[in-house]
Amino acid sequence: MQKIGIIGGGAIGGVLAQECATRKLAREVAFIDPAPIPNSDDPPERQEVMQKQSIAGGKTLDICEGLPIIGSDVKFSWSKDYSALKGADLVINTAGVPRKARPDGTFPSREELLAVNLKITKMVAAGIKEQCPDAIIISVANPLDAIVYTLSKMLDPPKGKLMGMAGALDSTRYRYFVAEAANVSVENVNALVLGGHGPTMVPVRSSCQIAGLPVESFIDADQLDAIEDRTRKAGGEIVGLLGIGSAFSSTAWAALEMAEAIIFDKRKIIASCAFLTGQYGIDGLFVGVPTILGKNGIEQVLEIDLTEAEQAALKKSADAVRGTCDEVDEMLKTL
Ligand code: LAC
Repeated sequence: MQKIGIIGGGAIGGVLAQECATRKLAREVAFIDPAPIPNSDDPPERQEVMQKQSIAGGKTLDICEGLPIIGSDVKFSWSKDYSALKGADLVINTAGVPRKARPDGTFPSREELLAVNLKITKMVAAGIKEQCPDAIIISVANPLDAIVYTLSKMLDPPKGKLMGMAGALDSTRYRYFVAEAANVSVENVNALVLGGHGPTMVPVRSSCQIAGLPVESFIDADQLDAIEDRTRKAGGEIVGLLGIGSAFSSTAWAALEMAEAIIFDKRKIIASCAFLTGQYGIDGLFVGVPTILGKNGIEQVLEIDLTEAEQAALKKSADAVRGTCDEVDEMLKTL
C-alpha cells in the first residue's frame, strides 16, 4: 500500500503510528492532529507558542528518529490541518475525546461523547473529502456506530469502503477471557461479538470455539455468562482502572487487524461495523456483523446461524444503535 492516514494523535493514534512503522504497512504514513489548539482568550505570546506545537508532529518526529534502530524506511508526514492526508489509500479515524473516569470513579457512556465528537467528526469528514475522497475508512472514534453513521451521511462513500472497528476489539476481549478461564493458549480461541459497540453487544456463544470444539465443553454455562457480561463491560473496566482515558493498545491492534486484512487482501473474517441492507433483518444501519475484509474493504457481509436468543439480542442491539443514529440526525440539524 502506498499511504495510510491516521487521524487523531491521542493514545490510539500513537500506537497505530508506531505499529505502522514496525510492521511496514505502507510506504507512507500521515499523522494528523490539530492539537494543541490555542485558546483565543490566552495572551498572544502563549497562542504563538501553541501554534508552533503539534502533538502529531512530536509523535511523528519521535518515531522517525527511532526508524534506523528498527530498520524501517516508512516515510512519515504530519500536519495540524488535513493537508498531509493527501492521496491516502486507507484512513484510520481515531479523532475524538475518549471516555475518562470522573473524580468519583464513575464514567460516561460512549453515547455521552456524542455531542463533542460529532463536531470533530464533521471536520474529519471535510478533511477526508478534500484530501482523499477515495480512501477506505476504518473508524474507531466513539460512540462507534453513530460516528460511522455520521461519516456515511457526510461522505456517502461506497458502503464497503467505510467500516467501524468494534467487533474486532470486543471479540479479542471475549477470546482473551475465554482462554484465561479455560487455561489454554489465546491462539486456540475463536469467537465473534456482534451488534453495537456498547452494553447491548452480543458475544456469540454458539460460534465460540476452542481448537474447533464448542466452548461449552471447556467452560460451564455460569462462568460463560460471567465472561460475556465482562466482555460487554470491558471498555468501562479499563476506563475505571486507567483514570485518564480508555483502552488504546488492544484498540489499535484491533484496527490494525482490519487494516492488515485490507492491505494484504487476506479476505479475513472479522466482525466489523458494516452497512446492512436487510441482513439479520436489519436495514439501512451500520451494525457489527461478521464480514470478509479484503482489498476493497468489506468484500462481503456474512449471515451466520444464530440461536433465537442471539438473534433477538442482535435486534435489540441494532435498535439501540438506531436510537443513537436518530439523535445524530437531530444534532446535525444544529451543528
Ligand atoms: C473501548 C473503547 C475504546 O471499548 O470503546 O475500550
